[in-house]
Amino acid sequence: MTEPLDPILRYVDEQRARFVDELVTWCRIPSISSSEAHAADMRRSAEHLRERLSRLGATSTAVIDTRLHPAVYAEWIVDPKKPTLLVYGHHDVQPSEPLSEWRSPPFEPAVRDGRLWGRGVVDDKGQVYIHVNAVEAFVRTKGAPPINVKMIVEGEEEIGSVNLDGLLRSHADRLQADFVVVSDTAMFGRGIPSLCVGLRGIAYFDVTVHALSMDAHSGSFGGGIANPANALARMIASLHDESGRITVPGFYDRVRELTAAERAEIASLPFDEREWLASVGGHAAVGERGYSTLERIWTRPTLDVNGLDSGWQGEGSKTIIPARAKAKLSCRLVPDQDPTEIAALVEKHLVAIAPPGCRVEVRYLHGGRPYLAPTEHPVYEIAKRAFSRAFGARTVFIREGGSIPFVRTIADRTGKPCLLMGFGQPDENAHAPNEWLDLENYHLGIKSAVYLYDELSRA
Ligand code: BES
Ligand code: ZN
Repeated sequence: MTEPLDPILRYVDEQRARFVDELVTWCRIPSISSSEAHAADMRRSAEHLRERLSRLGATSTAVIDTRLHPAVYAEWIVDPKKPTLLVYGHHDVQPSEPLSEWRSPPFEPAVRDGRLWGRGVVDDKGQVYIHVNAVEAFVRTKGAPPINVKMIVEGEEEIGSVNLDGLLRSHADRLQADFVVVSDTAMFGRGIPSLCVGLRGIAYFDVTVHALSMDAHSGSFGGGIANPANALARMIASLHDESGRITVPGFYDRVRELTAAERAEIASLPFDEREWLASVGGHAAVGERGYSTLERIWTRPTLDVNGLDSGWQGEGSKTIIPARAKAKLSCRLVPDQDPTEIAALVEKHLVAIAPPGCRVEVRYLHGGRPYLAPTEHPVYEIAKRAFSRAFGARTVFIREGGSIPFVRTIADRTGKPCLLMGFGQPDENAHAPNEWLDLENYHLGIKSAVYLYDELSRA
């Protein structure tokens, strides 16, 4: 039996290699949003994408400026009576250091072992291109996508989507849609199509403990004045109790406990803890008492040090009491925690526990709210079907511990569910050296998007 999608799927097969080449070209642009030195690359990356989309018959395309890095917008309005799908992704990437650990240079993407290796190949440029290619397949074989498609590709996701609210406010009409899909998550495992139905939120802090106006001789002053590094270490150590719970007063007030059904659903997944540990060279799974590893990383809040800096780190030794000590701290948040509320609690607590002789300065850098999908909405069955058709396997619901601030924001603004249909792999080395994209997932991801657009056009 031939089905109407056959020519489109055949096109995807025929263009398989070229789709990889196009992605490689885009990934050569080092669009690192956290570094001012790469501001011009961020713009080049946006222009490159906009140009590519304008060649796909988009009814309009734009590079949208924010206070920092531009976003890209395109739309294919085929028929106002048809449903509209909003596709979100991001074109900024994380820094690539440490460079010496990459087996091929991060911005010279290379194919090895059925994978594409390079910074941004899966997080998130490759996943954005899955949708670009799916649109192309429709445009080249049928003249247009089967539904109205809008695409918004942000340039500040990896730095906390700091200008997202402004962007959404000034372009509210452009972002009106019946459905939203985000491809920026990973599958549960190889060949297991996985719809992500929960994301954690985040609150990120810069903390400085000030004690002296200069570094001081540790023989002349040590033991007689406050050492900010000692102080910061004690403060940080006190932020968790024996059972792994966070000690900030009020921190858990809004945390929703898991239902028995939620716990059972998570427990039913074939999680290989040893493999998960091995993917980062870990030695033991540790965390809050009373929860499984998946529960901890998907459904429980955290407070973690992301960076620590004080005193002498150069060659050999230097006997000083450092003037100050710094830490980057972040909390992953779960429903119904609110980042600004948590920020206020954390800041108040850190100031309150500063030992004598130390002044604590806390800067709240950015936040994003957690997301729980309304899985009873019929679009989840549609998405499951599309995903399963492409991969030939049953689709599972998973959650992720990571954060995508856009997701909750757009869901609240539009009142529409946000599908998280991701094509990464759990051990893809996102944010780390040797990030890779499974090229089979890339190919089947394009087909999944084709099936999804098709099914939504009949929804
Ligand atoms: N693609 C990730 C989100 C993600 C992470 C999904 C882990 C699934 C598992 C995204 O690009 C990301 O890294 N987001 C940041 C957001 C933060 C800077 C606000 C994150 O989670 O650290
Ligand atoms: Zn990402």
